[in-house]
Amino acid sequence: KVVAVIMVGGPTKGTRFRPLSFNTPKPLFPLAGQPMVHHPISACKSIPNLAQIFLIGFHEEREFALYVSSISSELKIPVRYLKEDKPHGSAGGLHYFKDLIMEDTPSHIFLLNCDVCCSFPLPEMLDAHRRYGGMGTLLVIKVSAESASEFGELVADSVTKELLHYTEKPETFVSDLINCGVYVFTPEIFKVIHDIRTQHEDRANLHTLSSYDALRLATKTPTKDFVRLDQDILSPLAGKKQLYTYETMDFWEQIKTPAMSLKCSALYLAQFRFNSPGLLACGDGIKNPTVVGDVYIHPSAKVHPTAKIGPNVSISANVRIAAGVRLISCIILDDAEIQENAFVMYAIVGWKSSLGKWARVQGEGDYKRKLGITILGEAVTVEDEVVVVNSIVLPNKVLNISVQEEIIL
Ligand code: GDD
Repeated sequence: KVVAVIMVGGPTKGTRFRPLSFNTPKPLFPLAGQPMVHHPISACKSIPNLAQIFLIGFHEEREFALYVSSISSELKIPVRYLKEDKPHGSAGGLHYFKDLIMEDTPSHIFLLNCDVCCSFPLPEMLDAHRRYGGMGTLLVIKVSAESASEFGELVADSVTKELLHYTEKPETFVSDLINCGVYVFTPEIFKVIHDIRTQHEDRANLHTLSSYDALRLATKTPTKDFVRLDQDILSPLAGKKQLYTYETMDFWEQIKTPAMSLKCSALYLAQFRFNSPGLLACGDGIKNPTVVGDVYIHPSAKVHPTAKIGPNVSISANVRIAAGVRLISCIILDDAEIQENAFVMYAIVGWKSSLGKWARVQGEGDYKRKLGITILGEAVTVEDEVVVVNSIVLPNKVLNISVQEEIIL
């Protein structure tokens, strides 16, 4: 049997995702109309002999309850949310729930970060892992040398694919091959995490409490039961014939900011063409709006047939789109209202927000820049004919004058 664990982090981890993480935990933010965590979960369907899926995090349990029960019955595989009492780090969190994860005595454990967007080639990774032997296989990808330092950089043997060297977010360039945050391990991983925890404890016992705290602060190592998968496990195990790499040639992105969620929404919509074409809207301009490219429209949304939507648009539940509206590259969240002839491009429109007639809400479409797209938080009102360009508007604001390159607090 195989189990999958998805690390969903907690509220303190989502700060770069503000203002969209104010009322929805980041893992439940919709990409292509489905919660972020839904994409790795549905990828798990293709794992042979999958017994259970666990989500581990320190968000409130009730925030995940509804989603977890509906996805369990949809997939007919138990999906459980396990809440840590405090952050234990990416490996510490896994170890904290060891007994539950090992309940079905799985031969392999998939471990996925929830904030990555890719095609999750999980069966292929498992096959490769079985061929390599060893304790774990990491999904890796080549990125540009300039962006590599945002991730774990690694060196792998070109023939055996063994992980030879691993450095987390190095200051000087090591390699353009990076860690995608998707792993498969044998249960031996628990022993390794246990040993690292014991080392942390021994180190703590060597020092008096206050000097341990000083050391901990100086080396930025949190408490003893906090174990990071990358620095504490992957780095020391590299070059010991324990870890191997599987390189993806497909798409891969990390989702730390709202702008990246818009980009990843496009990637998942494009993937729907192959794996869930039924989720894509088709328009005719008569009874339904005109649809351009990949678009998701929730069945409860009301879109006027004279509106023109797409490409890369996703429209959530109970949204109302009036006549003559044009939407390009945007996410419109639940209960928002867009009135006649408004225009939205490279933007995220928050829950219950409303755009007046002929309003324009747009960004330039630079996903790497903080103000590269426009974001309206929850319940923002943009009055008639007001233009909002490259701005972030916090919840509950009313905009009656046009703004550009501003953060409206
Ligand atoms: N449950 C739980 N508890 N989850 C956690 C905790 C924790 O204490 N800390 C982090 N996570 C989750 C995050 O939500 C995320 O899904 C994953 O673990 C990794 O988060 P970080 O440890 O903050 O690392 P990162 O996202 O900056 O970088 C990691 O992922 C990159 C790929 O996206 C590293 O492994 C990089 O090397 C890698 O390139």
